[in-house]
Amino acid sequence: MMKAASTDTTRDNAARRIVDEVIRSRRAVRAFDPTPVPKALVVEMLEVARCAPSNSNTQPWFVHVLEGEARRRLGEALLRSHARDELPASQHFPGELPAACKSRQADFGARYYAALGIDRADAAARYAQTARNYLFFDAPVGLIFTIDRRLMPHSWADFGMFLQTFMLAAKARGLDTCPQVSFVRHEPVVRECLQLPEDQTVVCGMSLGHARTDAALHRIAMPRDPVEAFTVFHGFDGES
Ligand SMILES: Cc1cc2nc3c(=O)[nH]c(=O)nc-3n(C[C@H](O)[C@H](O)[C@H](O)COP(=O)(O)O)c2cc1C
Repeated sequence: MMKAASTDTTRDNAARRIVDEVIRSRRAVRAFDPTPVPKALVVEMLEVARCAPSNSNTQPWFVHVLEGEARRRLGEALLRSHARDELPASQHFPGELPAACKSRQADFGARYYAALGIDRADAAARYAQTARNYLFFDAPVGLIFTIDRRLMPHSWADFGMFLQTFMLAAKARGLDTCPQVSFVRHEPVVRECLQLPEDQTVVCGMSLGHARTDAALHRIAMPRDPVEAFTVFHGFDGES
């Protein structure tokens, strides 16, 4: 009996170390080498991702997986659209971001462009870096995630769990990802290329592949606020 309990503890500790390590080591990767990712491996990761929880088990996710010619065609169409720059900026955030989010956003921008050696005032260099999104940062596989447009914020929260589970499944297999909202701006182009049904709207895209080890961007870790900055504990330690 005692022996079984201690084996369980050892197994639990090992699982905790592995799960924590996978979560902590995931980064948004923005430079990939061309090593292919087999379709069977993508299917395996989607089989893990579909275990994500969803409200009343509604499973609101749809996924398009692009490789080879299909990935290239979408990338080129998006680059043409980016060059025309005719589409209105998409609204991922409210006009007035809450102050704390705004300051983290500014901090992200400063770190991101500094790591790339891009001067914030250099609009042409920033424009070229944005374009890298549309080529899935050269990753061999690109994904586009869509949801029924009638669904509401909690279903989008379900979708976030699906995305994170997929990214962790990738990390556990030695692969890296970058979730990308940048595709939303060019939704009409994505719609046409992928022949999306009318009821579907784009949640985001994602690059998937093997990280290039020489890329400067991978050396920056985006900071996180400490737990006490976003948590209020109630009723612990004998508090009423
Ligand atoms: C929904 C979502 C959309 C994102 N869109 C983009 C994007 O379009 N382009 C990009 O380079 N990074 C994008 N990111 C990556 C974030 O910038 C990144 O997750 C954040 O800075 C934290 O860094 P980390 O993921 O390396 O910890 C996105 C992340 C999420 C979750």
